[in-house]
Amino acid sequence: MMPQVHVSAHPLVNHKMGLLRDQRTDPKKFRELLREISVLLAYEATADLAAEEISVTTPLGQSNERRLEEHVGLVPILRAGLGMVEGMWNLMPNAEVWHIGLRRDERTLEPIEYYARLPVSPTVDLCLVLDPMLATGGSAVTAVDILKDWGAKRIKFVGVIASTEGIQRLSDAHADVPIFLAAVDSRLNDEGLIVPGLGDAGDRLFGTG
Ligand code: PRP
Repeated sequence: MMPQVHVSAHPLVNHKMGLLRDQRTDPKKFRELLREISVLLAYEATADLAAEEISVTTPLGQSNERRLEEHVGLVPILRAGLGMVEGMWNLMPNAEVWHIGLRRDERTLEPIEYYARLPVSPTVDLCLVLDPMLATGGSAVTAVDILKDWGAKRIKFVGVIASTEGIQRLSDAHADVPIFLAAVDSRLNDEGLIVPGLGDAGDRLFGTG
């Protein structure tokens, strides 16, 4: 495994992944599980956020505490990345959310950009690119390209399931972008879906399958 790839070994993540992958899991439960897994992954992906020391007055005295200094941007790749936003946003209510719309061409599997509106200059210190599936890696590479063109300096990718091929492609294109995952699967099928994976994340999330 490449050093910048973090695959969660947390038992809660593992347990919830079994439920998320299960074909019997309906969209309501799927959304709930994706939200919960995303929070657990966010906990790991934000472990190095900078914080300043502050003094807090408790009812009984002073306490030295830490306050986050960095401003986080959540960047979901539409559509499926939307399922990862809500839980993380509850955890980091001051985060900004910037959407990037990408869909894969069904024949070439290459991403086509259909939405990206970012401010003229970066407004956040750390961007978390969110997409549950890192399949061929094309979408993630394009999203990071867009953010780097924007001027983003620190970027991390947070996914749920990746193929080894997707990890390789993202690492080759953007070696400076750490990758946080819940699981790694070995292969892609002819439609570019991760096997065994969980099917089409966007369809399962939005009930459109
Ligand atoms: C799927 C998935 C990822 C992307 C991953 O999206 O949700 O965004 O493909 O594939 P890649 O790593 O090969 O680029 P899809 O294009 O089906 O769009 P959707 O999320 O709107 O369903």
